[in-house]
Amino acid sequence: MTDLVAPRGTYDLLPPASATHLAVREALAHGPRLAGYGYVETPAFEATEVFARGVGESTDVVSKEMYTFLDRSGRSLSLRPETTAPVVRAALQAGLQNGQLPAKLWYVGSQYRYERVQHGRYRHFSQVGAEALGSDDPALDAELIWLAATGFARLGLTRQRLLLNSLGDATCRPVYRAALAGFLAGLDLDEDTRRRAGINPLRVLDDKRPEVQEQLVGAPTIDAYLCEACRAHHDAVRTYLGDLGVSWVDDVHLVRGLDYYTRTTFEIVHDGLGSQSAIGGGGRYDGLSEMLGGPSLPSIGWALGVDRTVLALEAEGVAVAAPARCDVYVVPLGDAARRRSVTLVAALRTAGIATDVSYGARGLKGAMKAADRSGGAYALVLGDRDLEAGVVQCKDLRSGEQSAVPLDDVTDQIRKRLE
Ligand code: HAM
Repeated sequence: MTDLVAPRGTYDLLPPASATHLAVREALAHGPRLAGYGYVETPAFEATEVFARGVGESTDVVSKEMYTFLDRSGRSLSLRPETTAPVVRAALQAGLQNGQLPAKLWYVGSQYRYERVQHGRYRHFSQVGAEALGSDDPALDAELIWLAATGFARLGLTRQRLLLNSLGDATCRPVYRAALAGFLAGLDLDEDTRRRAGINPLRVLDDKRPEVQEQLVGAPTIDAYLCEACRAHHDAVRTYLGDLGVSWVDDVHLVRGLDYYTRTTFEIVHDGLGSQSAIGGGGRYDGLSEMLGGPSLPSIGWALGVDRTVLALEAEGVAVAAPARCDVYVVPLGDAARRRSVTLVAALRTAGIATDVSYGARGLKGAMKAADRSGGAYALVLGDRDLEAGVVQCKDLRSGEQSAVPLDDVTDQIRKRLE
């Protein structure tokens, strides 16, 4: 034991539980890979400005939750609380906007937010994300939503719902914003909420407190304010989703916690998770490139939460990870056998046979117990006398049967037996 523990709001991933996280990452990334998305990796920290300008100063994420620090040269850096703004920054830096569009990118990685810790809400968590940059085609919105929905279905989840909304664009959102601000001005709100309403009235719709929610009944909703172009876009997205057999719930109160969104926004919620129910979310961010000093680059993407997806799988009792695979466990007895076992193990692994080996001066009994625990199908026991005879004892760990196999033929024989 040690008195040093992982920081609050974080946890370690160790076998066997870590296998589930890996399997979830794989499953969620499978769709984007099949759909032409290429892998992108950006640094875990960025200039703070990337998030201040990209995600928005009025958001909780930027104003309260970032891990911001000065480096030794006095630059303000922040651990990434999300990866969309960094991906757009990286794409602009590389000039991807001048190449073939949309540029389709996917990523997996750690995110850092200084949040109030609770079940499903951590300060370090992992996302699989996909971003398609440089197209305003509503078919792309539908492609991404379908990829997210099928990713979760692929894992065997069934108790999730897709919430869909449109947040309008630079033409219609300001009109809606003004109408909402007028409505909020007539409510009995505390100082802090009033200040937030001043910066971005849409944030107040996201307030979960019952005393605020009660007053919001009758608040103007965005659907009544969408301009012609945004309405047409939203209708087209819904038509495509219908064609794809994706089911969704229209939710005019869905505002999302990041300021860059325009038009299509969505969230996937799972009802086995309690209050932190979003297992994924995303939307269009047609103005983000300009916010970061780039050209017009209409784009859309999502990020799916790996940690919460694992919790959702647990809530549904779905197992996804295959147990760690070990086909063969080698037990060398004696110094000469230990030396020969080094190349035997290497040859088995080179042949693609998952092999583990007993280390240290363990007796036969202890080594055979480890062989049983390894989950392997065969133990190969090599004593100094076997070595002189050019054989190894091959024990079937299920039936207990044992036979001597020539050492120079053991890889082929094991391969045949495992087929
Ligand atoms: P987000 O909704 O902030 O969006 O996060 C996406 C997902 O990450 C959430 O639905 C949730 O599953 C997971 N998540 C967020 N915060 C936590 C936390 N504290 N603990 C555990 N899991 C968490 C974004 O990050 C956007 N960048 C998504 C996006 C991509 N929009 C466009 N492109």
